[in-house]
Amino acid sequence: MLKILVIGSGGREHAIAKKFLDSKKVEQVYVAKGNAGMKRDGIDLVDIAENDHESLIKFAKKKQISWTFVGPEIPLLNGIVDDFITAGLKIFAPSKAAAMIEGSKSFAKEIMNKYNVPTAKYQTFFDFSKAKSYVKRKGVPIVIKKDGLAAGKGVVVAFTIEEALGALSDMLKKNQFGEGVSCVVVEEFLEGEEFSLLSFVKDKKIYPMVIAQDHKQAYDNDKGPNTGGMGAYSPVPQISQEVIDEAFERIVKPVVIGMEQDSASFTGILYAGLIATKKGPKVIEFNARFGDPEAQVVLPRLTSDLGQIIDDLLNDKEPVITWREDGITLGVVITAQGYPQNCKKGMPVPTKFNDSKITPYYAGVNCDEKGELVASGGRIFLLCTTADNVKIAQKKIYDELDKQSLDGFFYRKDIGYKAIE
Ligand code: AMP
Ligand code: GLY
Repeated sequence: MLKILVIGSGGREHAIAKKFLDSKKVEQVYVAKGNAGMKRDGIDLVDIAENDHESLIKFAKKKQISWTFVGPEIPLLNGIVDDFITAGLKIFAPSKAAAMIEGSKSFAKEIMNKYNVPTAKYQTFFDFSKAKSYVKRKGVPIVIKKDGLAAGKGVVVAFTIEEALGALSDMLKKNQFGEGVSCVVVEEFLEGEEFSLLSFVKDKKIYPMVIAQDHKQAYDNDKGPNTGGMGAYSPVPQISQEVIDEAFERIVKPVVIGMEQDSASFTGILYAGLIATKKGPKVIEFNARFGDPEAQVVLPRLTSDLGQIIDDLLNDKEPVITWREDGITLGVVITAQGYPQNCKKGMPVPTKFNDSKITPYYAGVNCDEKGELVASGGRIFLLCTTADNVKIAQKKIYDELDKQSLDGFFYRKDIGYKAIE
């Protein structure tokens, strides 16, 4: 039987850990640090910080953990995989070198260029005045991205020159989007439907998952600032199998094989963020991990055993990966009021739901002195359900949310709207 350690503390890690617990091969699932909401599902929390690799390694050895699974990107870029492997421990996630596909937009663009992977045309700038003349020459709409990690918040899609120059100034002069590499990528605006194609990857072997669509903007009708993600659904009926196959052949495969050839071999979950343009699918970003909230809607559709799949991949065995084919799985994120800026905290978080077919995945929650869940900021929880079609799924979730008292919370009312014919 397997004992698994999951690193992370959000809704994504809740969904991953819960799926591991469903596995016939899995005896125990620990999450470091996890969150208080996960305990309700029998997940064991470990009070060790994500960046304390030494203590995590000690814990894994002491508890005889079979292997570790990493949820978020920051530990990957801090080299948690390299440290675990050096300590003789098994871990399913990319090395620091491979995680640069997410950590550095310019690194990702170089790989795409080298292997002819379709992506938006771009230029990298360190200098404000050079960037400014480029943007003026190219015109709008145009996309300005801060290099380095910014949790989805380092991207500005500018529809006016003023907006574009403002973003360049914030990023290159004021460094408003966080410390790190002081360079920006100025990118061609891609028009089309967005979708996320995630794959299980072990070196050269790639197993694509069912696709999902996230809703990055904070408000209805895709208005407002970019966030970590306000809701998602899977599959995405308006994206054809032909487009998915093309994305796999022309994007995912050459990148994975190219990384292997270039000594940055990728093991873990590779997330391709794509836009289906009139000229075929093109890349907007790669992530080196599951998406949040994509994991919460993709994993419930997996009908084979996640624990067995990862164990097989780590042991170079052929995994059995099967997906539910009917219906649609939809998840709505409930945030604290104020998200993505200053968030309200301390509100009681619902734990009792009227509809037994709705699953909660918790994220920004703590336990108060009475043992009740309270909001601790950011994205608080996600409600997920599977139904015959997107309209029924929406109705189930939004009816349930109407019945809950959600003072101090906020959520989008239109998750899945693009999937309605
Ligand atoms: P990223 O952090 O690169 O995923 O970007 C965040 C969001 O900005 C994406 O989910 C898209 O909605 C949007 N975006 C990023 N790059 C582009 C692009 N080149 N063209 C159009 N929209 C983009
Ligand atoms: N949902 C987008 C991400 O996880 O990056």
